[in-house]
Amino acid sequence: MKLDIFDLPPVAANAPDVIRIDHLFKRFVLRHTRSMKEAFIWLVKGRKGDLSEKFNALNDVTMNIRQGERVALLGYNGSGKSTLLKLISGVMQPDDGSVLTRGRIAGLIEVGAGFHPDLTGRDNVFMNAAILGMEKEQIEAKFDEIVAFSEIGDFIDTEVKFYSSGMYLRLAFAVAIHTDPEIFLVDEILAVGDEPFQRKCLAKIKELCARGKTLVVVSHDLDLVSQICDRGVVLERGAVKFDGEAMEAVDVMRDLPFGTTKRNRYEGDLLAAQQKLETMEVSRRELMQAIESGSTETVVVALADIAEDSQAEIDAMSNEQKLEIVNSEITRLEKKRERLHQLNA
Ligand SMILES: Nc1ncnc2c1ncn2[C@@H]1O[C@H](COP(=O)(O)OP(=O)(O)O)[C@@H](O)[C@H]1O
Ligand SMILES: [Mg+2]
Repeated sequence: MKLDIFDLPPVAANAPDVIRIDHLFKRFVLRHTRSMKEAFIWLVKGRKGDLSEKFNALNDVTMNIRQGERVALLGYNGSGKSTLLKLISGVMQPDDGSVLTRGRIAGLIEVGAGFHPDLTGRDNVFMNAAILGMEKEQIEAKFDEIVAFSEIGDFIDTEVKFYSSGMYLRLAFAVAIHTDPEIFLVDEILAVGDEPFQRKCLAKIKELCARGKTLVVVSHDLDLVSQICDRGVVLERGAVKFDGEAMEAVDVMRDLPFGTTKRNRYEGDLLAAQQKLETMEVSRRELMQAIESGSTETVVVALADIAEDSQAEIDAMSNEQKLEIVNSEITRLEKKRERLHQLNA
């Protein structure tokens, strides 16, 4: 039963660090277009100085992430979020400082990174999963599940250069999530997918979290952050501006320059939570009546933000089991509403 997804476990008090980031710097070259004259002067002066300027995409970032933590990385475009994920994943090396990680890392940082255009989806699954540290037998065992999740169908034997960006994304996510990583990294890239697929991914990510795995996700989606993340880190020009409670981080983010005004900015989220809560309370009443009257008719309970297969599982449950789920969902929504109220005040 994978329905404990609604209440993700708190991080164990003695959870070890799985990511240690120590005084991390990443510099990129900022190329200026110089005039011929400037370039000439630079040459005759014996190439003193540099025509290009370096800037810190990551500027002295230090943080530890413990096993089972679910961290949201926030910040405006260019603040260094993707660079940080790349350094954690090891596809990029730091210029200074260090990143230490423990356990298998997988995730979605760049769509199709690690996919070879001339190979078929099938061959890419094997190659990609092998890169992520899986044995051939393990991949074979999971292959059908991966293809089913990706919804690629018969295209699995087509070269991936003919895939749409959505197909690329679905296959890449399917491989990454099925490698059973200890640490899962997700960049905004998920926003590329369509809505039903996003929900499916979200359900998978929650499953991973429910099993105590570590998540680092770049997202501005308040709902996603509040449902999954327990910690938020705001980056500003490559430096950590805030590191703390996830919802507070969202708040800090909204207060950064060119943020919206503080007043009423959670009104929409609050309204949505309130509506979901009311629906759940109706379901609760119906369920309790059905249980009390000993009715064998099952009450239909539809949960928002849930993947189709999880919904199918709920449909198959008894009224008592449904009531349990509805109660936990109500508790979650009440907590969320409370939090939004505070933020809105
Ligand atoms: N490979 C690269 N070469 C040069 N500059 C880069 C490279 N990757 C990122 N940058 C620059 O580093 C800064 C941080 O980028 P990035 O980590 O992608 O930010 P974010 O993901 O927060 O939008 C940006 O100014 C970006 O232009
Ligand atoms: Mg980015």
